[in-house]
Amino acid sequence: MPRQFFVGGNFKMFDPPNGTIKSITDIVHNLNGAPLDPKTEVVVAPPALFILLVREHLKAELEVCSQNVFDKPNGAFTGEISAEQLTDSGIKWTLIGHSERRVVMGETDEFIASKTKAALDGSLSVILCIGETLEQRDSGRTIDVVTRQLNAVKAKIGDWSKIVVAYEPVWAIGTGKVATTEQAQEVHKAIREWLGKEVGKEAAEKTRVIYGGSVNEKNCGELARQDDVDGFLVGGASLKPACEFCLFLFFSAGTGGEC
Ligand code: PGA
Repeated sequence: MPRQFFVGGNFKMFDPPNGTIKSITDIVHNLNGAPLDPKTEVVVAPPALFILLVREHLKAELEVCSQNVFDKPNGAFTGEISAEQLTDSGIKWTLIGHSERRVVMGETDEFIASKTKAALDGSLSVILCIGETLEQRDSGRTIDVVTRQLNAVKAKIGDWSKIVVAYEPVWAIGTGKVATTEQAQEVHKAIREWLGKEVGKEAAEKTRVIYGGSVNEKNCGELARQDDVDGFLVGGASLKPACEFCLFLFFSAGTGGEC
């Protein structure tokens, strides 16, 4: 059975006009009206402040994702949100391991693995982000790095059926420097091989491995044609004023096109 194409929009904390109540409401309105490919799973991750607003107004076929979740089910952890609180609010997905959290917030492989376990225990599905820095790529360590990141999660969880793996090279995020189709396919294939060896044949066949890092309407078509690219995690381009309607359309169809 072919893997269902998956498109995630990661709405970050950019300056206005992005990231305001108005801009988020406009995106939701556009998405609700967009003739998205019904075969594609579309999930959007607004800042925590807007999660309920988006869930309330976004059409039911599209899912909402948190950008973060804590690794404890409850307790005195000021500023954190638990998996249970998210599921109680109708949120079915969370992002974990984004490089901005690994690099800027100092989240370790182990903490990311604990968060993944807590999310799955709390019935969330997880977009698990992994990827190498430019220095790691330049020193030939890309596969070692993504393998180390995956191994840390494997040490804490056994069931990968609710995980989408997002390969996001750190050097490609928000830089306009997209990985070449060969670079993306090579790492996606290695991730699938890792799944086959470390988790099982079924996980290798069924787990979606999506690409993130400067994806836009022009480069998504060619990337989507790679055997092991099962979708995208889109940051900046998912917020382009007035364009997100077309972008989601292109991403969702996996075709690419001119806006
Ligand atoms: P970008 O971000 O598309 O702006 O590079 C991707 C991401 O952070 O997931």
